[in-house]
Amino acid sequence: MWINPDEIIKKLDMKGIEVRLAYFDEVDSTNNVAKSFIQDGVTDGLVVISATQTAGRGRFLRSWVSPPGGLYTSLVVKPILSPADMPPLGILAGCSTAAAVRSTCSLDVHLKWPNDILVDEKKVGGILSESIIEEDQVVSVILGIGINVNLELDDYPEDLRNGMTTILHETGQETSIEELAASLLGETYSRISEVEARQTFLPVLSEYKKVCNTLGRRVIVEQTDATLEGTALDVDESGALVLETGEGIEIVSAGDVQHLHS
Ligand code: BTN
Repeated sequence: MWINPDEIIKKLDMKGIEVRLAYFDEVDSTNNVAKSFIQDGVTDGLVVISATQTAGRGRFLRSWVSPPGGLYTSLVVKPILSPADMPPLGILAGCSTAAAVRSTCSLDVHLKWPNDILVDEKKVGGILSESIIEEDQVVSVILGIGINVNLELDDYPEDLRNGMTTILHETGQETSIEELAASLLGETYSRISEVEARQTFLPVLSEYKKVCNTLGRRVIVEQTDATLEGTALDVDESGALVLETGEGIEIVSAGDVQHLHS
C-alpha cells in the first residue's frame, strides 16, 4: 500500500471532519470513480484517493500523468448556497490546496488563474472541477486535485518537465502524503463550512485574489476558439477573469493562461 488511508482518517478525526474515504492503490481516474459513486446515489461527503492513476485527466481533455508518489484525490461536494449563487468551487479548492501545500511543505505557493498551483512559477498541482447536472440542476461537484509530491522530475515524460515541478524537487525532502491529504481536506471543508455558515463566498474570493498572482500581470489566454492578450485586472464573483485587452474589457470564463514576464 503506497498511501495509508487509516493515517488520513486519524488525522481528519483530530480536525473533527467526518467524510467517507474511498482509497485505492490504482484507478483510471479518481474523478471517474467519484462519478460512479454519484451514479450510485452519493451526493456529498465522499473523498476518493488513489496512489496512482492510469488515465488521470486534466483540464481541456489533457491527460494528467499520475505516478505513485503524488496525491490524486476527488472530493464529492454538494452545491453550497442557492443554485443561483452557486460559487465557483474550483476557486475554493485552489485556495485550500495552496494553503495545504504552504503549511505542510513550507513552500511559497501561488495560483495561476483559474487554479494551477505554482511554486516559483512552475506548476506543482492542478484542479479539475466537474459538475454533475440533472434536470438543469447541479446535484454534485467533483473537485479533482492532483499534486506532484514525492516525485523527481525524471519520473515524468521529458516533454512535460518544462514548466512543472514537484514538492520533492523544490524542498529536497519527502512529504507525508497522509499529512498533506489531511491538511487539504481540512482546509477545503473548513472553507465550505464557512461559506455555508456565513452564506457568502466573498471571503474566499478575496483570499483567492491575494494568492492568485495572475492579477496585475500581462497574460496570454488561449481559448478553444481564440487567443487573447492583455492585463489581468480582476476575478469576478463567478470566478471569471477580467481582462483589459487594449480594445476593451473581456470577461474570460475558461482558458489557459500564460504569464508574460514584463
Ligand atoms: C489540470 O489540468 O491542471 C487539472 C489536473 C487535475 C488532476 C487531478 S488528479 C485527481 C483527479 N483525477 C483526475 O483524473 N484528475 C484530477
